[in-house]
Amino acid sequence: MPASDGDPAARVAHGLEGVVAFESAVAFIDGHAPELTVRGYDIADLARGLCYEQMAYLLLFGRVPTAAELAALRSELAGLRALPGPVMDLLASAPQAAHPMAVLRTAVSMLGVLDPAAEERSGDGLIPAAKGLIARLPTIVAAQVRLGEGLDPVPPRGPEAGHAENYLHMVSGREPSGPMARAFDAALVLYAEHETNASTFACRVVVGTLSDYYSAIVAGIGAIKGPLHGGAIDDAMRLLIDIGRPERAAGYVDEALAARRRLPGFGHRVYRAGDPRASELREMALKMARALDDSTWFDIAAAAERRMAQTKGIIPNVDYYAAPVLYQLGFPLRLMTNVVASARVAGWSAHISEQYAGNRLIRPRALYVGERGRRLDAAD
Ligand code: SDX
Repeated sequence: MPASDGDPAARVAHGLEGVVAFESAVAFIDGHAPELTVRGYDIADLARGLCYEQMAYLLLFGRVPTAAELAALRSELAGLRALPGPVMDLLASAPQAAHPMAVLRTAVSMLGVLDPAAEERSGDGLIPAAKGLIARLPTIVAAQVRLGEGLDPVPPRGPEAGHAENYLHMVSGREPSGPMARAFDAALVLYAEHETNASTFACRVVVGTLSDYYSAIVAGIGAIKGPLHGGAIDDAMRLLIDIGRPERAAGYVDEALAARRRLPGFGHRVYRAGDPRASELREMALKMARALDDSTWFDIAAAAERRMAQTKGIIPNVDYYAAPVLYQLGFPLRLMTNVVASARVAGWSAHISEQYAGNRLIRPRALYVGERGRRLDAAD
C-alpha cells in the first residue's frame, strides 16, 4: 500500500500506542513498575499527604504551596466558586434527558463566553481562567446533582470550607464527616493528573493550534466523556450493581469474558502490572466500607477483581474502586464522570500551560489506503 509521501516504511501506530508525542515535566508513568509520579512526587504520597488545593497548586506552579500560599489560594478559590447567572440559568433549563457531561461541556463554554480574558494565549495568562474552572466545576456538578433530584442547588461556602468539604456540602446540603471529606479529597487528588491520556492529549492538540484555553477544556470534557475513558466510572458502578452479590461475581465475569464483553473499570493502555491509583482507591473503598458498616460494594468488587486476575489477568484501573467510593459519598451514577472531569481540570490546565510555553503544531500523518490516480470523466 502506498504510504504518506510514498514512504514504504511508514507504519501505523494504532491508537498512537507507544508513540511519544512531546516532552513533559508534569507526570511520569512506568506501566510495568507500576509507577506514577506527578511533578516528581509519588502518587500515593500525594493522595495521602495533599488536599486537592495543594495538588492543583503543585500542578500549576510546579511545587507544593507554603501554608501562606495555600491559605491565599483557598481564599481566592472560595471567592470564585459562585456561578454567573447565565450559567445557573443554563443548568436549570437543561433538559433532564441531556447527558450530564454535555451539560458540563456547555456550561464551561458559557463560562468562556463570559470571560473577557478568554482569548488570552499564554502559559501564565491562563492561570486566572484555570483557577476559575477549578473553583467552579464543583459548583456546576453539585448543582447538576441537586437539580437532577428536584432540589435547589446549595450555595457554595466561604474559605472556611476546603475544596472537598465544600463540594460534598453542595451535593448533600449537610456538613460531611472528616473521614468522608478526607476520602473525597484523596480521590480528587488521584484523579487530578495522568500524563498523556486521551482527554489531556485532546487539550494539547487544541492549544497546539494556538486556540484558547476554554476551547481546550471543552475538548478535554468531550474526550473524557467516552466509556473507554472517564465515562467508564459509572459503567463500573453499574457492573457492581448488576453483579448484585459477591457469590455471583465469578460467574458474571466468566460469562462476560466468554461473550468477549469488556468489563468497565478493568484494563489500561499503559499499565500492565497494576494502576497505582487503583491500589489507593481499593484501600479507601475498604476503609469507607468499614466506616459505613456496609461492605456490599467492596466485597462484590473484590470478588470480581479476583476472578479477572484468575482468568484474563486484566488489572483494575482507577475507575474500578473509585466507583463505590463516589457512590458511597452520595454521587449518583450519572454524575460520576462529571466528578472525574472536575478533578482532571487541574492536570489539563498544567498541560495546556506547558503546551503554550513550548508549542509546535500537533499534526501527525496517515497511511493512505484509498484509491489513487482516478480521473473524472463525463460519466462521473
Ligand atoms: C481511564 O489513558 C489513561 O491514562 C486513562 C485514565 C486516566 O486517568 O486518564 O487512566 C483513565 O480512562 C481508565 C480506563 C477506563 N476505561 C475502562 O475501564 C473501559 C474498559 N477498558 C477497556 O476498554 C480497555 O482496557 C482500555 C480502552 C482502557 C484500553 O484498551 P487497549 O489498550 O486498547 O487494550 P486492547 O483493546 O488492545 O485490549 C487488549 C486485550 C484484548 O484481549 P484480546 O482481544 O487480545 O484477547 O485485553 C482485553 C482485550 O479484549 N481487554 C479487556 C478489557 N480491557 C482490555 N477484556 C475485558 N475487559 C476489559 N475491560
